[in-house]
Amino acid sequence: MGRSLKILSLFLISISLILGASGTVHAKKKKIPKKPKYVGAVKCNGSCHDPYYQAWKDSPHGNTYELLKPGVRKEAKERVKLDPEKDYTTTPLCLRCHTTGYKQRGGFKPAGSKNKKGKDTSTKIDPEEPNKEQVGCEMCHSVAGGSQFRIVMKNTKGDFKKAETEKYGQRWDYANVCTRCHTHPNTPFKPEVHDKYKFNFEERKKKVHPTEKYWNEDNEDQKLEKIKDRNKEVAQSEKTPLVIEDFKVKKGKLRFKKGTKPYNKKKKTFNYKK
Ligand code: HEC
Ligand code: HEC
Ligand code: HEC
Repeated sequence: MGRSLKILSLFLISISLILGASGTVHAKKKKIPKKPKYVGAVKCNGSCHDPYYQAWKDSPHGNTYELLKPGVRKEAKERVKLDPEKDYTTTPLCLRCHTTGYKQRGGFKPAGSKNKKGKDTSTKIDPEEPNKEQVGCEMCHSVAGGSQFRIVMKNTKGDFKKAETEKYGQRWDYANVCTRCHTHPNTPFKPEVHDKYKFNFEERKKKVHPTEKYWNEDNEDQKLEKIKDRNKEVAQSEKTPLVIEDFKVKKGKLRFKKGTKPYNKKKKTFNYKK
């Protein structure tokens, strides 16, 4: 009996040593991926932005996919001559503005998506955990997805300068980024159609992240300690906002107009408004 207890405790000690060691490996700096890609809101939550995720989940942007389903917001659809009984959850035009990163690396893939071998590659949707199927964090905070600057944030434990994440595609042109969708020439829901589609940035901004009531004991360590210092910095994209994508659907495919993409994949450069 005594002997097997000894063996058991030796076993437990070695397990804890292994776990401990792997813990320190995790604390080491992670490598920044070579290319930007979309990772989804759940990854931004992780152990970092829980209150922002929870607030987003309950906000209109956390539910934009729903609006593409048949029978949802009938009146609004009829007003702009959309078919209220049609399923728009695979319609390229709608997906551009109602999901995250559609037609870009790592972005949302609708039902029926397949790779060359015919394997289903469509994005899994979990109703409990909104993710790429909604207008997620990366549609407002990134140029081409958050895979790279997310690692900078982690490696610096939140102590980074705007320029350090901006060079990996985090964007700070908040008022500009809304026009990727709101008042965009391609949205059916234009201010001319109804007053409620008029866009006042300062007013609307208040409704994007009402995080106050989402802070609790479990996430209070996620307070953004450097936010005040950062607010004093002026990022490049605040001085010269990025270009806004112009796009159309041709032969059933979403195509971006040349020169209107804010990130040049080949040259790895950003396109700012002139
Ligand atoms: C260029 C971006 C863009 C495209 C393309 C787009 N939407 Fe939207 N959609 C928006 C924005 C922005 C709003 C919110 C407008 C507001 O509240 O001011 C919206 C709102 C809606 C609403 C709610 C309107 C209301 O008053 O309740 C529905 C329904 C909707 N979209 C469906 C669709 C469908 C279906 C398609 C494809 C045929 C589509 N959208 C294409 C940007 C877009
Ligand atoms: C519809 C656009 C939009 C979406 C979607 C969005 N954000 Fe934001 N976010 C903003 C804007 C605008 C601000 C600046 C708010 C301000 O200055 O009052 C902001 C601020 C923040 C900040 C404070 C950082 C700083 O220094 O300004 C964090 C952190 C943040 N968002 C995280 C997230 C996360 C995590 C998600 C997804 C779960 C998300 N955001 C989704 C627009 C968005
Ligand atoms: C990728 C597209 C997209 C971007 C970018 C975007 N929005 Fe939206 N936004 C939508 C859609 C779609 C809706 C419709 C949600 C609904 O009606 O339920 C919406 C709805 C809203 C609403 C709710 C409308 C209301 O008054 O209840 C607010 C507020 C809002 N957006 C603010 C912003 C702000 C501020 C920004 C920029 C920082 C922004 N949005 C960027 C797509 C977008």
